[in-house]
Amino acid sequence: MLKIAVIPGDGIGPEVVREGLKVLDAVAKPTNLKYELTEFDWGGDRYLKTGEVRPEDGLDQLRRFDAIYLGAVGHPDVPVGLVERKLLLDIRFGLDQYVNLRPIKLYPGVWTPIKDKGPDEIDFLVVRENTEDMYVGTGGFAHYGTPDEVATQVAVYTRKGTERIIRYAFEAARARNDEKKVTLVDKSNVLTYGHDLWQRVFAEVGEEYPDVEKDRAYVDAACMWMVKNPEWFDVIVTTNMFGDIITDLGAMIQGGMGVAASGNINPEGASMFEPIHGSAPKYAGQNKANPIATIAAMHMLLEHVGATEAAARIENAIVKVLDSGEILDLSAGKCPPTSEIGDMIAAAV
Ligand code: IPM
Ligand code: MN
Repeated sequence: MLKIAVIPGDGIGPEVVREGLKVLDAVAKPTNLKYELTEFDWGGDRYLKTGEVRPEDGLDQLRRFDAIYLGAVGHPDVPVGLVERKLLLDIRFGLDQYVNLRPIKLYPGVWTPIKDKGPDEIDFLVVRENTEDMYVGTGGFAHYGTPDEVATQVAVYTRKGTERIIRYAFEAARARNDEKKVTLVDKSNVLTYGHDLWQRVFAEVGEEYPDVEKDRAYVDAACMWMVKNPEWFDVIVTTNMFGDIITDLGAMIQGGMGVAASGNINPEGASMFEPIHGSAPKYAGQNKANPIATIAAMHMLLEHVGATEAAARIENAIVKVLDSGEILDLSAGKCPPTSEIGDMIAAAV
């Protein structure tokens, strides 16, 4: 019995999660998949009602699940960053989901803004470090609000944290396909301490993988190449902050926020799967959001827990629907109604 914690979250989260669960239900019978859902009302609305985003012992409740399925986080009436911290970042950090996996894969039939590039060229995996960097929340203010104010936000990198994410990337490159290449994306020409550590660890760990090609790119140049020559990439390994930024760019070249999914992985614990997009409050409750990214997150979830047949069926169904030409625009507000897209994919599994 697969035990899944469901956190629909804010904004369009509940609507897109509903479609993901619809597809899960559709795939369960033919693949004989047994699962149990437990829903959590955590997020901005709960905060407005009760003064807390989630219960104090929330993270412990999550630990007993095989996987976590998250919709979207971010509420316009809640102080900026609060839901992000209490829900998303606390789960990532607290459950030690140190890998943020973000496949950048253009499916056939999907429009990309990059001229002359197609599914053969746009197919790589970003392995984003997920528990360190400027996200740790180390820093502070001095002389707050005065002309002499000083603000610091410290980028923290540990050797252990750097080593485990880089090793994960090399393993992913071996498992993925025959290309077997890992590109380290950093800014070691300026971040001469933190990213010096990344470079040294990349070289050290890389020695254990003689069969995997190694490459390096500064993050600014990597942004250029993702657009100009996306086919150069197979697996990218990068820091938390840079991974956040380059995967929005990656989402755009793979067809937009409507399709981009991700997994927050703890290889030994509970992992969490979510679309890359935010809560899009302006579309909330209108059946206008594209649920494909969230359905693709369910595909990743099932693959991660070893339900390979169910996972493959969902991916094939997504591919089929995307390639059918029935969805002319993948963006929220312009795509077919949320529930209809869910129905199409559920029918195709
Ligand atoms: C993401 C989001 C989050 C991040 C925010 C909501 C905290 O942008 O998952 O990419 O920065 O990691
Ligand atoms: Mn982001």
